[in-house]
Amino acid sequence: MPADQIPNTAETLLDVQDLCVSFRSERGIIRILENVSFTVRAREILSIVGESGSGKSMTSLAVMRLITDPNAIITGSITYKGRDLLKLSPREMRDLRGREIAMIFQDPMTAMTPVYTIGWQIEEQLRAHQDLSRHAARARAVELLGEMGVPAPAKAATRYPHQLSGGLRQRAMIAMALSCNPSLLIADEPTTALDVTVQAQILELLQRLRTDFGSSVMLITHDMGVVATVSDRVMVMYSGIIAERGPKPDVLGQPTHPYTLGLLHSIPPMHGEKPHRLPSIPGSPPSPMGRPPGCPFQPRCEFRMDACATRPPLFRNGMQEASCWLADKGLPDWAHERAIRTTGEAA
Ligand SMILES: Nc1ncnc2c1ncn2[C@@H]1O[C@H](COP(=O)(O)OP(=O)(O)O)[C@@H](O)[C@H]1O
Ligand SMILES: [Mg+2]
Repeated sequence: MPADQIPNTAETLLDVQDLCVSFRSERGIIRILENVSFTVRAREILSIVGESGSGKSMTSLAVMRLITDPNAIITGSITYKGRDLLKLSPREMRDLRGREIAMIFQDPMTAMTPVYTIGWQIEEQLRAHQDLSRHAARARAVELLGEMGVPAPAKAATRYPHQLSGGLRQRAMIAMALSCNPSLLIADEPTTALDVTVQAQILELLQRLRTDFGSSVMLITHDMGVVATVSDRVMVMYSGIIAERGPKPDVLGQPTHPYTLGLLHSIPPMHGEKPHRLPSIPGSPPSPMGRPPGCPFQPRCEFRMDACATRPPLFRNGMQEASCWLADKGLPDWAHERAIRTTGEAA
């Protein structure tokens, strides 16, 4: 039984099974996501990590039913609180978006209208889903901004998006996303554009959502440092497939996929001397059209072997699963040893 299907006491909020996304093109079918399965439980933070192009955003857009390209072919199931989102009408889906599932992006300007004040935009969001007077909505908007750590929230509410700093804009966008108390917040690279201090504040805010709002978060990032800071569970994606997944301490402490190991090398060590330049994985991910048969990571993998010409299934070790023939033989010793060296943390 895959680890994700082990019965757990926490309620499963989102259950994605065998999600495949392809696009019809002049050059044939382009397969973007291949059999992506995962769950998000109540009050947990699931991080989805991988280099640019691995399919993280496509996964979140599929969950939000925001892939509108008529050439897209989407199969599998996306069950949210027992309902298959792929079967909902556009109207039912619109109703769910914002009220149940909200999404925030790297660039708050994409979600905000430049010509209206922050306060007005949050009020509109509130009134679209709840029967509130303008006055009550304004009070709640200001309250939410305050809860998101915006100083002088009543004043901030009268500002236009461009009048706020990047960090405050991101807080305002989270306030807008939370205005209707969604059970699930999908955050796609929410801190990428921010400096380190502001990034830490936003990550702390995301962690607080579970205690203060009872929300779950699906956090998308390319940064293993962010994963190390906030997640409960981690899913590593590479070239449209799941490379590895499991509880954070297992995946970061004892990675069983060489790709996870490579990503961990790119985190600065917590203790000791900081290297001048962090090592990165040589080469770059294949395009969906150029994905090699077998394991998509094999051209870049230092542990490549003959077996890699065949696509490995997800092998399970404890609560951890990896799509790598090495993981078939249990936890590789090298992984454990190297993870301790790169993260500076004993597993
Ligand atoms: N409309 C589209 N048609 C074809 N390919 C696409 C389309 N949109 C994105 N892609 C491709 O899908 C892959 C995954 O993209 P994406 O989910 O944005 O990756 P990530 O968010 O992990 O950086 C990329 O190779 C990208 O070029
Ligand atoms: Mg992306």
